[in-house]
Amino acid sequence: MDTFRLDGRRALVTGGSKGIGAGLARGLAEAGADIVLVARGQQELEQTRDELRTTGREIGICASDLSQTDAIEGTFQQIVQEHGPIDILVNNAGTTRRSPAHELSLEDWQLVLEINLTAVFALSRAFARERISSKRSGKIINIGSLLSSTARQDNAPYAASKGGILLLTKALSVDWAPHHIFVNAIGPGFINTPLTRPLVENPEFNEWVLGRCPMGRWGNPKDLTGAAVFLASAASDFVTGQMIYVDGGWLARF
Ligand SMILES: NC(=O)c1ccc[n+]([C@@H]2O[C@H](COP(=O)([O-])OP(=O)(O)OC[C@H]3O[C@@H](n4cnc5c(N)ncnc54)[C@H](OP(=O)(O)O)[C@@H]3O)[C@@H](O)[C@H]2O)c1
Repeated sequence: MDTFRLDGRRALVTGGSKGIGAGLARGLAEAGADIVLVARGQQELEQTRDELRTTGREIGICASDLSQTDAIEGTFQQIVQEHGPIDILVNNAGTTRRSPAHELSLEDWQLVLEINLTAVFALSRAFARERISSKRSGKIINIGSLLSSTARQDNAPYAASKGGILLLTKALSVDWAPHHIFVNAIGPGFINTPLTRPLVENPEFNEWVLGRCPMGRWGNPKDLTGAAVFLASAASDFVTGQMIYVDGGWLARF
C-alpha cells in the first residue's frame, strides 16, 4: 500500500547504532526513507551505517551525547545543514540505572531523566521549530516502555521517565496538531537487544519472561518496525497522541 511508503522522507533515529534504534532505522529505510543515525559511539555508528546502506537509501551519522541537553538545538540545526530537512524524528536513545529507590543517588536520577525525557523534549522542540518555520508537516515517534504505565522494582527513574514519555507524547500532540506535526509513541515489551542481553542470558529471568509473556518469547527489534512505519507514514494521518504497545500481549494479562 502506497500510504505506508516513506520515499522522499528523511528520518533521524536517536540511539540508532544498535538494538531497537538500528532495527527501526532498517525498517524505515526499507520503507523508502533516508536515515540519519545519532549515538555517542562513532565506531558502532559507522558499522550500522555500512550495514544499512544495503537498503540503497542515504544513511548519515552524527556522533553526539544527548545527555548534554543544552547542545541539542545546535546539533539538530547542524544535522539539517549537513543532511537536509528531517521529516520523521524517532526519539529512541535511552538508558537506565537500577537501584532500590532509597539508595539511588540524585546524579543517577538526573542522568536517566535527562537522556530519557529532557533530551526527547529538546530534540522534539528543535524538530517542531524547523517544521513550523518551513510550514512542513512532521512525524515524531517516541519510544516508551511497559514502564510507561506499570512499575518494576528498583527502576524508579526509568519508570518516571517512561511514564513522562506517555504524557509528553500526548501534550506535544495537542500543541502541534495545528501544525500537522504528529506525535505518537511505541511501548515495547521485553526486546532482545545489547541492553537486555544480560537478562536474556540469566536463566531465571529468561524463564520468567517466557512464562509471563502471552506470546511466550522475547521480542526482537524487527517486531517494532511495522508500528514505526505506520506511525511515520501517511497511513497514520489521523492518529496522534497515542502509544502503541508492541509487547506480545504482556499488558493484556493480569
Ligand atoms: N530492550 C528492551 O527490552 C526495551 C523495552 C522497552 C523500551 N526500551 C527502550 O528502547 C530504547 C532503546 O533500547 P535498546 O534496548 O535498543 O538499548 P541499547 O541496545 O542499549 O541501545 C541504546 C542506543 O542508545 C544510544 N545512547 C545511549 N545513551 C545515549 C546518549 N547519552 N546519547 C546518545 N545516544 C545514546 C546507544 O549508543 P551509544 O551507547 O553509542 O551512545 C545505542 O545506540 C530505549 O529508550 C529503551 O528504554 C527497550
